[in-house]
Amino acid sequence: MEARTRRLRNNEILRRMVRETRLSSDALIYPLFVKKGQGIEEEIPSLPGQIRYSPDTVAKGIDLAQKAGIRSFLLFGIPEAKDETGSGAYAENGVIQQTLRNLKMSFGKDVCLITDVCLCEYTSHGHCGIVHGGRIDNDTTLPLLSQTALSHVRSGSDMVAPSGMMDGTVTAIRTVLDAEGFSGIPIMSYAVKYASAFYGPFREAADSAPQFGNRKTYQMDYHNSREALKRIQIDVNEGADSIIVKPALPCLDIVFKASQRLNVPVAAYSVSGEYAMIKAAAASLFIEEYDIMCESAVAVFRAGADILITYFAKELAGAIKNGDIG
Ligand code: PBG
Repeated sequence: MEARTRRLRNNEILRRMVRETRLSSDALIYPLFVKKGQGIEEEIPSLPGQIRYSPDTVAKGIDLAQKAGIRSFLLFGIPEAKDETGSGAYAENGVIQQTLRNLKMSFGKDVCLITDVCLCEYTSHGHCGIVHGGRIDNDTTLPLLSQTALSHVRSGSDMVAPSGMMDGTVTAIRTVLDAEGFSGIPIMSYAVKYASAFYGPFREAADSAPQFGNRKTYQMDYHNSREALKRIQIDVNEGADSIIVKPALPCLDIVFKASQRLNVPVAAYSVSGEYAMIKAAAASLFIEEYDIMCESAVAVFRAGADILITYFAKELAGAIKNGDIG
């Protein structure tokens, strides 16, 4: 009797034939950090194996990833100087704007460049919005986010990804992009972003730790899931073309529900802490890095994600090519 559930696992060809989850490196997005300056190519201590570049060196990172089979990138900028209003985020010659112009010149349509639209890397206080009287002011932040998105798109961004969790961001950005002749540029919104300790290593990588308080007033409470669906619905109604759920593995329930109920592509962001955890455990030989990486990525797609944003993008593309997953 036991054969009933096992016969499709009898050999490798069969096992691959009946796989329910299929992966493609086309569905992977690789995050890259770019710091204002020149000739920078430094390892990020909190994210072993990840490199911080400058606008003149980041092409190397893209090149390496392209060779592995990755064509989509999520760009984060680290400015030279920070101020109260995060002006480096929307500066004509800001780090991301420079990066986009350089990369579009070298790679043109061979790459899809997605830009994170947020102020936290650019503000002196490290919050994602304008601070008034110790509080994050949602509505005065919106025009700055639209301005940031517009300056990214003018510099060559293929898709903008607002991540600050300010209400009304998608409407604000869509309105400005449409008015300026960029109605063809999609918005991938971080609709569900839990206030999560899993972002710790990112904050070191992007130098964006809040200088006071925390992000719990604008990022979501991880006790809630209906609220996540509500936020997604609002962003979709406002015109989001795709939505992001993050972190990934702790939120597979949300990924599943979102993919069942909504008709937009769902991206899961396997964040810095998820990556760092695997790296650290593997370094102490408690786990097999490659196997854990594969299993974690497949789980995200099995839950219903269409896209995975991951620091393991290159290695996963290799695993897919080898037939170990996908
Ligand atoms: C910016 C932003 C963060 C991440 C993506 N965009 C940091 C945060 O919200 O604190 C985290 C990504 C990661 O941890 O890999 N708002």
